[in-house]
Amino acid sequence: MNGAKLTARDFPEGFKWGIATSAAQIEGAAFEDGKGAEIWDVFARTPGKTYGGQTPDIACDYYHKYPEQLAMMRGLGVNSHRFSFSWARVMPDGAGRVNQKGVDFYKRAIDEMLRLGLMPNATLYHWDLPQELEYRGGFLNRDIVNWFTEYAGFMFETFGDVVPLWSTFNEPIATYVGYGLGAFAPGRKLEKFGRQANHNLLLAHGSAVKRFRELFGEKRPELDLTKPNIGIVVDVWHHHPARPEDPRDCALAELENEKAYRSYLNPLFKGGYTGALLKYMAEGDCLPDMRPGDFELIRQPLDFFGLNCYNRVVDSVEPGKVRETVEFGGGNYMDNGAEFYPKAIYDALHNVTENFGVDVPIFITENGTYNCEEQVVYDADGRARVHDVTRIRYLNGFLEWLKKAMDEGIDVRGYYVWSMLDNFEWTAGDSMRFGLIRCDYGADNYIYKDSALWLREFLR
Ligand code: FCB
Repeated sequence: MNGAKLTARDFPEGFKWGIATSAAQIEGAAFEDGKGAEIWDVFARTPGKTYGGQTPDIACDYYHKYPEQLAMMRGLGVNSHRFSFSWARVMPDGAGRVNQKGVDFYKRAIDEMLRLGLMPNATLYHWDLPQELEYRGGFLNRDIVNWFTEYAGFMFETFGDVVPLWSTFNEPIATYVGYGLGAFAPGRKLEKFGRQANHNLLLAHGSAVKRFRELFGEKRPELDLTKPNIGIVVDVWHHHPARPEDPRDCALAELENEKAYRSYLNPLFKGGYTGALLKYMAEGDCLPDMRPGDFELIRQPLDFFGLNCYNRVVDSVEPGKVRETVEFGGGNYMDNGAEFYPKAIYDALHNVTENFGVDVPIFITENGTYNCEEQVVYDADGRARVHDVTRIRYLNGFLEWLKKAMDEGIDVRGYYVWSMLDNFEWTAGDSMRFGLIRCDYGADNYIYKDSALWLREFLR
C-alpha cells in the first residue's frame, strides 16, 4: 500500500497509542525488596537455556529507573502503557503472604503513569510464574485456578480504581512452550503437559474474570475507560501452507493452527475445543483432564480482546520449500530473516472477528520487530545513531493494514508497540533487540533509534 504518508491523525479520536513491556523483561531487581523467584529466574540459570546464560536479574532496571523511563515513554508521544505485574513480587510464594514493598512499587509506578498521562493497561501474567508454585506442579496442578484467582482478586482490589484495562494472561501459547516443548520456563517437555497446562490456564482465566465481575459488576454494553475492564491477550500467527496445491502442506498448516491460537480462541469464544484438536489429542495420548463445567467457566464475557501480532507462519512438509515459495510468490524477507508480511494484522483481525465471533473492542497489544539495522553509528557532531529503517518500514506497514481493517469496520481502540527499550528477550536475552531505544542491561546509555524519532513524528 502506497498512499499518502500515514500519521496518527488518520486514526479515530480517542485511539490509544502505547508501548508494551513485561515485568520479567524490564524490571530487574529480581531478588530485591522481598520479591520471590519466578520460573525465568530459575530457568535462565540452567546451563544452556538462554543466550550467553543471561538472566532477568537486571534487564532495563525499570524497578529503579521507572520515573525516567516512563518520562521517556511519554516523550515519544504515546498516551498509554501496557505493562505486567510480577506475581512473585507481590506474592513471593504465589499465594498467601503479600510483599508490601512489591505492592508499593506498583503503586508508585502507576501513580507516575497517571501523572504523566499514560493510561495503565495491566497484564496479570506475562510468563513469570512464582517458582514456589512451580514446585507445587505449576500449571499442571489444577490448584493454579485458585492460586491465580487469589492473586488476581488481590490486584483487582488494590488497583481496580486506577487501572482501566486488565488482561488475565499474555499469550497462553508461551505456557505450552514451557510445559510441552521445554523451550521456555519452566522447561518441562511433554505434549500432554503442554495441553494440560493450557487447559488449566484457561480455567484460571475464566475464574479470574468471574472474580472481576463479583467486584466490579457485569459486563457493560460499551467499553468505558473510566471504569475497570477485563480481557485476555492472545497472539495470532496464522499458519499458511507453502504450497496450497499440496494437501500435505495444507494438512500441516491446518493442524498447526489447531494446536496454536485456535486452541485458545475456540474455548474462549465458542465454548470448547474443536473435533480436530480433540482427535489430535486423543490419538497423541495428550488429552487434558477436562471436567464438567470447565468450558462454561472458560467462556466468560469479556470487555475487550487483546491481539498480539508479529507475523504469519508458512509451513511445508519440506521445510526447504518455505522461503523459496514465499519469495517466488513476491513475498520479501527482512535482514533478520523474518518475512515482511504486514497484512498479518489485517488477516488476524478478520480472522478473530469472523471466525470466532469476537465482537468486543480490540486492542493491538503488541507489534514490533527485532534486529533491524542495530549498529550504533556516529554523526559528524559525534551523536550516536541507530538507523533502523527496516523497523520503521515494518511498523508503518502494519499500521497501514490496521487502518484498512478499521476502515472496513473492525472495532480497534488502540495499538501498542513492542517495545520501548531493548530488553530481556527471554531465551534470546539481548541477542534479539526489539526496542525503539537502544539500551544495554543495567546501563543508561539510551540511544533513540530512528524508529523512535519516526514514532514521535507519527504521533505529533
Ligand atoms: C511476544 C511476547 C513478548 C516479547 C515479544 C517480542 O510474543 O509477548 O514478551 O517477547 O513477543
